[in-house]
Amino acid sequence: MALKVIPFFHDASNTLSYILFCETTKDAAIIDSVADYDQNSQKISYASADVLLCYVQKHQLNTKWLIETHVHADHLSASTYLRNKLGAKTVVSEHITKVQQTLKPIYELDCATDGSQFDVHVKDGEYLPLGELQIKVIGTPGHTPDGISLYCDGHVFIGDTLFMPDSGSARCDFPNGSAQELYDSIARLLSLPEQTKVWVCHDYQPNGRALDFHSTMAEQRDNNVHLQQSAEDFVAQRQQRDATLNKPKLMDVAVPFNLQGHSVV
Ligand SMILES: [Fe+2]
Repeated sequence: MALKVIPFFHDASNTLSYILFCETTKDAAIIDSVADYDQNSQKISYASADVLLCYVQKHQLNTKWLIETHVHADHLSASTYLRNKLGAKTVVSEHITKVQQTLKPIYELDCATDGSQFDVHVKDGEYLPLGELQIKVIGTPGHTPDGISLYCDGHVFIGDTLFMPDSGSARCDFPNGSAQELYDSIARLLSLPEQTKVWVCHDYQPNGRALDFHSTMAEQRDNNVHLQQSAEDFVAQRQQRDATLNKPKLMDVAVPFNLQGHSVV
């Protein structure tokens, strides 16, 4: 009995999606799947998600969960598309409602704000069964209020909290983001066993280095460029840096799409 992790990289958005499955039962979860979006034609398509679909079908996996680590601002989710193909359940944080309530008026959306677009709302400390294994939900807000990380069998999928050690941490300037909350969330992740395998949601390949998306908690603790300082200095550095960042280029398309659990077939 062990967890198998298969990463997929979406080049256009620098996003890592993961298929994880119990090797004994082949029960599977997909974390942070990505839809393709062409800015010129404004068309949504699913060639990248179909790669995940092919993997699932080829390996005869039983996909149970389609998990979003948060409402993404930089890419469109393919979870609802994959739900329609696979019959699995979409999973988001219970705090999706906070994101919907905050952003509905900003984007002038006509949508429910009770999270009813998604099948399962999870809380911090809750478990999702995965064959002979369990996925533990760890609430990790800060980048967004609905941030969650997923721990299973010595692996943790950390969404937008930390990036690779040479790339620091995620921005906290979206509505209801908080650098202090992110610091507290990171501290919770760092309390996991130091040999825990850490899988990030994005890698921007700084200074031309090769793609990398996998470290350990000890490597993050000892080497992450944003963590070698006090909490106060982390928060100050994060806020200063966030003040210089541009809005993600797909944000005004991605946020309304993702917080309403949309898909286009
Ligand atoms: Fe994000």
